[in-house]
Parts: sequence; structure tokens; C-alpha cells
Amino acid sequence: MSKSPNGLYTVLGIAGIGVGIGVAVNSSNHQSDVIETAQATAQAAEDRAAAAQAAIADTQAAATDLINTLAAQPLSTGAPVAETAGFGLGRDALPVEIAAWDIDVRPDGAGLPAGSGDVWTGEEVFVEKCAMCHGDFGEAVGRWPVLAGGHNTLSDEDPVKTIGSYWPYLSTVYDYINRAMPFGMAQSLTNDEVYAITAYLLYVNDLVDDDFELSNENFLEVRLPNEPNFFMDDRATAEYPIFSVEPCMENCKDSVEITMHASVLDVTPEDENAAQEDATVVAAAAEPEVDLAAEGEALFRQCKSCHQVGDGAGNGVGPHLNGVVDRPIGSVDGFRYSNTLLDVGGEWSADVLGAFLADPRGAMPGTKMAFRGLRSQEEIDAIIAYLATFE
Ligand code: HEC
Ligand code: HEC
Repeated sequence: MSKSPNGLYTVLGIAGIGVGIGVAVNSSNHQSDVIETAQATAQAAEDRAAAAQAAIADTQAAATDLINTLAAQPLSTGAPVAETAGFGLGRDALPVEIAAWDIDVRPDGAGLPAGSGDVWTGEEVFVEKCAMCHGDFGEAVGRWPVLAGGHNTLSDEDPVKTIGSYWPYLSTVYDYINRAMPFGMAQSLTNDEVYAITAYLLYVNDLVDDDFELSNENFLEVRLPNEPNFFMDDRATAEYPIFSVEPCMENCKDSVEITMHASVLDVTPEDENAAQEDATVVAAAAEPEVDLAAEGEALFRQCKSCHQVGDGAGNGVGPHLNGVVDRPIGSVDGFRYSNTLLDVGGEWSADVLGAFLADPRGAMPGTKMAFRGLRSQEEIDAIIAYLATFE
């Protein structure tokens, strides 16, 4: 609140600068008029600021009064008013209020109320109060949550996570049902009903027999199958040391091995001369380690929108390219070639293929392969080496 007057002054300050500029750019004639108008405007704004400040002070005083009055009033319950430490607001919660909120049940059994219920009773209550959404056996109606089954599906692409297959602790089952179900009628169940329903849900998950009775006494004896797969977050000790070592900033590697050239990787801008120079440098340096087929694989990205190659490759915009090296031209069954490729005859020898890939339309006028052509002999060799790896 105390900030608003400052804010107002700031705005006035800016207005003041505006007035100054206004005066500077206006030439002689209207100057005094302008100054008078500006002065009047500034005066009015200052008056309004003063009024606003007074109003704020009034409101603050009124609020302080109200807070003090409220704090001094005894509560209607007759409970003792808390010592007004802190902000002087509120009161201590009453024991009954705390008891109503404090219903959590923990994995070690803390918070469990006394009570018991068996599978048969649980089935009756479940069918009456839960089955319309969760199904008679927890199999779920429509898209309501499934409560049973799903064992051994957790590593599937579409796991079925249920109390039986996924939940770590029975205490969560008790707590959840007691706290939140039946949906729309939360906390309407008795303790014995919650025990009975929990027993029934264990039964439909094949975890107990039909004569089982669950109580606060034997509660901890029941273990859910997925409990061992939950563990405490250990990243602080397991992973943090890996990420917190001092990073190496110089002389980090003994030797550098070139596995691919940027021009081939297609990350450098197009420039014929540079590409050729690069090719010459590569030739001069004679690095046999550079794996042609691997370079070809990277280059093949440009072809992928139209061609497939490898296991299960089929025809797309262009024919599949499995075994294309030395394959008769225009010979893939079911692909609709241009007449050019159908009529030209011969095979895709490395030379013919190379000329085609360098300039498809120049080499085979009338082809419907809409591709500008590869840039260098090195790229052509690499792609052919890559294509030759597929039968
Ligand atoms: C009107 C439909 C409805 C009824 C009736 C109902 N539930 Fe639910 N139940 C739900 C919905 C919806 C959720 C999911 C709530 C959420 O994710 O916030 C749920 C979630 C649950 C879950 C947690 C499932 C999971 O894997 O996360 C359990 C356990 C459960 N209900 C038990 C019961 C029991 C026991 C009853 C009867 C006492 C019951 N429900 C009655 C709709 C219902
Ligand atoms: C925009 C789509 C497109 C791109 C990109 C493309 N092609 Fe083609 N390709 C085609 C089409 C369409 C044909 C059939 C041409 C015809 O029938 O005239 C074809 C034909 C071919 C043929 C002849 C196959 C045969 O069975 O006779 C080869 C080889 C070939 N492409 C290789 C490549 C390579 C390698 C690349 C990448 C450097 C590439 N293509 C990029 C569309 C494309």
C-alpha cells in the first residue's frame, strides 16, 4: 500500500519531463499559453495525488482498527484466544477440528482406527456403493478407474495400474477409500465398512482367500506385490556425484579422431568451392577411417521424404531402394515409374547411379524424381556406399 503514493509521484515526474519538452519545442508565440496550461495541469495532478494519499492513510487506519477489534473479541465457542504472536490473525485449531482433519493412515499402521471387516461384508457394501462405477469385481464400468487385475503389465506399453498390480501399501488403499470414496459421498463410510471393502479389494486382486477378515490387528501382515519396486529417492547419493564433478575445461582429450566432416553432415551452408576445397583437403590428408557408408547414411536424410530402405522398406513417393545398386532401372513391382525410367533400359551401375544422383533431370530427362541433385562426388560415393549395404 505504501508504494502507491510513490508511484503517483513517479508518474508526475514523467509528466513534468513531458512539460519541459513541450516548452522546448514550441516556438515563441504560444509559449506562455502553453506554460500556463501545463502549470495548471500539473497543479491539478498534484492535488489529486495528495487526496489519494490521504484516502490511503484513512483506509489503512480503518483496517488496523478492524483487526484490533476482531483480535480482542472472544470466540463464540468459548475457546481461548491464541496469544497474538505473528500477524495477530486467527486462532489455534480446536482439538475436534484437528481430529476431523487428522485421518491419514501410514504404511507403518500409524493412524489406523480400531475395527474390522471381512470379504463377504465387503462385497455387499462394494456392490451397493462402489460397483456402479468400479464394476462388481473392480473391473470398472466404462472409463471409471479399474481397481483389480493388471498383474505383470507394468512394463507393458500400456500398463494397467491397480491396487493389486501397482500400489505399494495397503495403508494407501484404506486411506484413499476412507478419505475420498464413494465419489461424491466422501467420508460417509464407517471404519468397519472401509476394512471390509479393503478386504474385498484384496480378494478380487487374488491376494487373500474368501474367508479373510481384515482388522487393525492383522493389517500390517498384508503386503502388496509391488511394494519392493518402490524405494526411497536416492538421487542425492546415486546420481548427484556424477553431475557435480568439476568439468574439464582444457586438454581434456589426448587425441582427436575425425569421424565425419561438417560439409558431409550437411551442417555448413551451400558453397560449391568450399565443398570442393574440403574434398581436396580430405583427399590430401588421406584419412581412411572416415566411414563412407556412415556418411552416406547421414546424407540419405535428404532422400527419406520419398524413399525407404532397409527392413520392411516399401514404396513411397519414390520406389524402395533395397538392392538398388546394379538393379535393373525402373524394376520395382507396383511402383508407377515415369516412361523415362521404364524405357531407358540397363542397370543402376555405380556410374549410371552416380550421374543420376548428381543431376536427375539432366541425366534422365523426363524423370519424375524431383530432386536437385547431390553436390559432390564425395557425397555421391558415400550414398552409393550406403545403398550398397542393403540387399
Ligand atoms: C460415482 C462413481 C464412483 C463411485 C460410486 C466410487 N468411485 Fe472410486 N473412483 C471414482 C473416480 C472418478 C476415481 C478417480 C478419482 C481421481 O483420480 O481423482 C476413483 C478412484 C478410486 C480409487 C483409486 C483408484 C486408483 O487406482 O487411483 C479407489 C481405490 C476407489 N475409487 C475405491 C472406491 C470405493 C471402495 C468405492 C465405494 C465405497 C468407490 N470407489 C465408489 C469414482 C467412483
Ligand atoms: C522428392 C522426392 C524424391 C527425393 C527427395 C529423392 N527421390 Fe529418388 N526417386 C523419386 C521418384 C518419384 C523416383 C521415380 C522416378 C521416375 O519414375 O522417373 C525416384 C527414383 C529413384 C531411383 C531409381 C530407382 C529405380 O527403381 O529405378 C533412385 C536410385 C533414386 N531415386 C535415388 C534417390 C536418392 C539416393 C535420393 C537422395 C539423394 C533420392 N532418390 C531423392 C523421388 C525422390
